[in-house]
Amino acid sequence: RVAGPCVLVLFGVTGDLAKRKLLPAIYDLGNRGLLPPGFSLVGFARRDWAAQDFAQITHDAVKEHARTPFREEVWKQICEGLHFVPGSFDDDGAFDALAMALKEIDETRGTGGNYAFYTSTPPKYFPVIIEQLKRTGLTRPPEGAWRRVVIEKPFGHDLKSARELNRIVDSAFKPDSVFRIDHYLGKETVQNILALRFANTLFEPIWNRRYVDHVQITMAEDIGVGGRAGYYDGIGAARDVIQNHLLQLLALVGMEDPTAFGPSALRREKEKVLEAVTLPEDLSLGTARGQYVSGWQGGVPVRGFLEEDGIPPDSRTETYAAVRLEIANRRWAGVPFYLRTGKRLGRRMTEVAVVFQRAPHLPFSKTDTEILGHNALVIRIQPDEGVTVRFGSKVPGTAMEVRDVNMDFAYGEAFLESSPEAYERLLLDVLIGDPPLFPHQREVELSWMIMDPIEEHWAADGSQPEGYDAGSGGPASADEMMARDGRAWRRL
Ligand code: BG6
Repeated sequence: RVAGPCVLVLFGVTGDLAKRKLLPAIYDLGNRGLLPPGFSLVGFARRDWAAQDFAQITHDAVKEHARTPFREEVWKQICEGLHFVPGSFDDDGAFDALAMALKEIDETRGTGGNYAFYTSTPPKYFPVIIEQLKRTGLTRPPEGAWRRVVIEKPFGHDLKSARELNRIVDSAFKPDSVFRIDHYLGKETVQNILALRFANTLFEPIWNRRYVDHVQITMAEDIGVGGRAGYYDGIGAARDVIQNHLLQLLALVGMEDPTAFGPSALRREKEKVLEAVTLPEDLSLGTARGQYVSGWQGGVPVRGFLEEDGIPPDSRTETYAAVRLEIANRRWAGVPFYLRTGKRLGRRMTEVAVVFQRAPHLPFSKTDTEILGHNALVIRIQPDEGVTVRFGSKVPGTAMEVRDVNMDFAYGEAFLESSPEAYERLLLDVLIGDPPLFPHQREVELSWMIMDPIEEHWAADGSQPEGYDAGSGGPASADEMMARDGRAWRRL
């Protein structure tokens, strides 16, 4: 899969995402021979930079964060297509200069008027950028060319704002030219949920309420908010991560088999699951939230959320959120899906655990089987990518003792191929124009319909989120939420 000649315009090129993910991903694509001849990258930002400054920043980002080894000839090739346009987003002149620069690039590099615009900026700038692109006519391709827009998350902060943003995007771009990023869908292990479920016969017969006791979806991070206070405060863990990444994981785990790996078939099945999601009757009992207080992580003392730079000392933003959802359909009725995420937890780990019911009858004496747990299939999204199946096995010896053991599939051992970074895969899809891994507007709206009542409940409650120690497993109320159901979170 190789893209045709085109230009990628990156708004917000001085930001953290550009430096850590996007610029390195472009280099990695180049290194794998996946960038088209003439490919050009235009950086746009409010900096008084010359072209060399942009090249230097890109070079440093690539050196520090690229996955593939640095090779002079690849870097030289990328460098030849680098351009920088200085200006702020409300500056008409800067966008006129961008339009001129693009025309010149088409003439000198043969990119044929094919442009992808990437909004890697704080969300408040999305509307003005789109308006400017519209004003300068950059959203309208000449005959035979294409224009695409990539919108970073968060897509709105509730249903109303998501719809409003979509109205603006819709007025400028055709629906199939809009690529909404959820970088979790770019991860190999997330795409593998579909392969595991639908390329095998082994799991699907038991993937339902008759065999599954519950599902736990965990995205634990050890980092704090770091330099992202401006973005994070007022957003919080639920909007930052549950609305998008975790609900997408839930949709992939819960959906019926799509007729094909195409955008409309996938979308249709994911939407059906999201439409069927029900919230707990009592939101105080079926949700939990927390805020990290100072503690220790990896032997180092770390600050609490309220002491982080840029966070007001009375902030009520949650850094941990957990919620108990159900999917009201024939396959899943009555099976709880527990979702949790948090910053500054004990370790970085994302996984989906499908926990099965206990065997209905155990023909072993009680003492031998007391410790026998539930079978589980654990999809390890990161960092130790793979799949674990947990089942009971006889302990070697003269007694009939059964104990849980794990059977593991590890990417590193099973495949020689290395996994591309999520953004590498997604950027390539944008340049090719391949949409299956990008959530559709309807999915975004359905996700906000799930989150809005939870956010409103927390806002009305008005209390401070419960403190939890940095480096711990999260707030006690999240454990209590599970205990009320007679269950426990998997250990972090
Ligand atoms: C982003 C969130 O979408 O995902 C961040 O905004 C979070 O808060 C990040 O840290 C985690 O991504 P990953 O790929 O490291 O799990």
